[in-house]
Amino acid sequence: MAKRDGFGSSFGVLVAMAGSAVGLGNLWRFPYLVGTNGGAAFIIIYLFFVLLLALPIMYAEFIIGRRSQANVFGAYKALAPNTKWGYVGIIFLMASVTIISFYSVVGGWTIDYLFKALTLQFDSSDPQVLSGMFNKVVTSDIEPVCFMLIFLGATAFILLSGVKEGIEKYAKVMMPLLFLIVLFIAVRAVTLPGAGAGLEFLFKPDFSKVTAGTFLAALGQAFFSLSVGAGTIMTYASYVAKRESIIGLSVQTALSDTLFAIIAGLAIMPAVFAFGISPGEGPGLVFITLPNIFAQLPFGYVLAIIFFLALFIAAITSSISMVEVIVAYLNEEFGLGRRWAILLSMTVIAIFGTLCSLSQGALKEFTIFGNNIFDCFDKFSANILLPLGGLSAVIFVGWRMAKSDCVDEITSGGVRKYPAFVVNFIYLSIKYLAPLVVAVVLVQGLL
Ligand code: PFF
Repeated sequence: MAKRDGFGSSFGVLVAMAGSAVGLGNLWRFPYLVGTNGGAAFIIIYLFFVLLLALPIMYAEFIIGRRSQANVFGAYKALAPNTKWGYVGIIFLMASVTIISFYSVVGGWTIDYLFKALTLQFDSSDPQVLSGMFNKVVTSDIEPVCFMLIFLGATAFILLSGVKEGIEKYAKVMMPLLFLIVLFIAVRAVTLPGAGAGLEFLFKPDFSKVTAGTFLAALGQAFFSLSVGAGTIMTYASYVAKRESIIGLSVQTALSDTLFAIIAGLAIMPAVFAFGISPGEGPGLVFITLPNIFAQLPFGYVLAIIFFLALFIAAITSSISMVEVIVAYLNEEFGLGRRWAILLSMTVIAIFGTLCSLSQGALKEFTIFGNNIFDCFDKFSANILLPLGGLSAVIFVGWRMAKSDCVDEITSGGVRKYPAFVVNFIYLSIKYLAPLVVAVVLVQGLL
């Protein structure tokens, strides 16, 4: 059998994992959720879920993926042969497909906006004009679908070169660049006159705005932002060498993701307040508000170019991780060559993606429970599929796998030494804490 592709270095694994986690979730979704859910209060609840839930689930996905060295179906078949556990893979596949379908639409918007920035089209600081522009971008029939296809084409291009030569190589260049850009914009934003109100909004909690919905939104965002529950971590972990530290990589990934979210908040909120714009703008926040701000700043057009470049980079490093889940599955379970697996995945995603894109315009009237297709895919994946996927991973590791196997993975076969209480705490949080909290919030949210 041909040797399985895999990551070549610890830094490579980290940037690939952080690349998956840091994405539109940080730069586009997090700021508008903070804006519509009461600022700092939302951030605190979010951080609580990251620590209590997302991390244990990340460890669990990591353990399953690395131990089995297989795709999301193959992993369960390898670790629990002749059982029905393999079917759990369906949740991960569905989650990846639903997320990438609407994600690639937004990815397409970022390319469209990057193009607009490069051709100096943000010359108006009139919010009316800019929101008209955004509406036109998202509600047109052909244009956003074409940009979505370009985005998917770029994703396919990286994936064609494989894990080490594709995913890892590109992440190593793009992630440090992304960090520098976002940091630069944040520094510019916090030094604007009047930025203080934005900082207050980000860091001073107002718990009166917190409702049950806030908890579900924070839970969904913690899963979405850290890419847990979609099988991406499991799939990437299957390419990770045994010597790498599961705890170290998971904690570093979670830290980088949180850091990016906070820096993104710092890049956006102070500017929003400095220019007297409502933070509750919703999904249009970065596409309407920021061009408005850029138009009013000296050298704003340069800022606009680098900001939308950052948004694109963030989106594509996440997109490759989702598609890799599907590609690895088709490749290993059906023996499809990598090229064919990529082509087939892209075809399916392009069809769903087109529906999501059109649901902003031509198919707007078609709603399910009051949501258009785009919003349904977003909410169904973040609030239901990801928690379900995460729940199944922690239950599998905590209740089906032998504790000794789990500890063997955490300690890299005994090579890495941790105090017993650390290993026990991790094991117990996988076995009891995480399943309990996800189940409670899921049931609450569904009631
Ligand atoms: N974590 C990504 C973001 O914050 O944009 C989105 C994402 C990627 C979600 C991969 C789920 C996933 F499996």
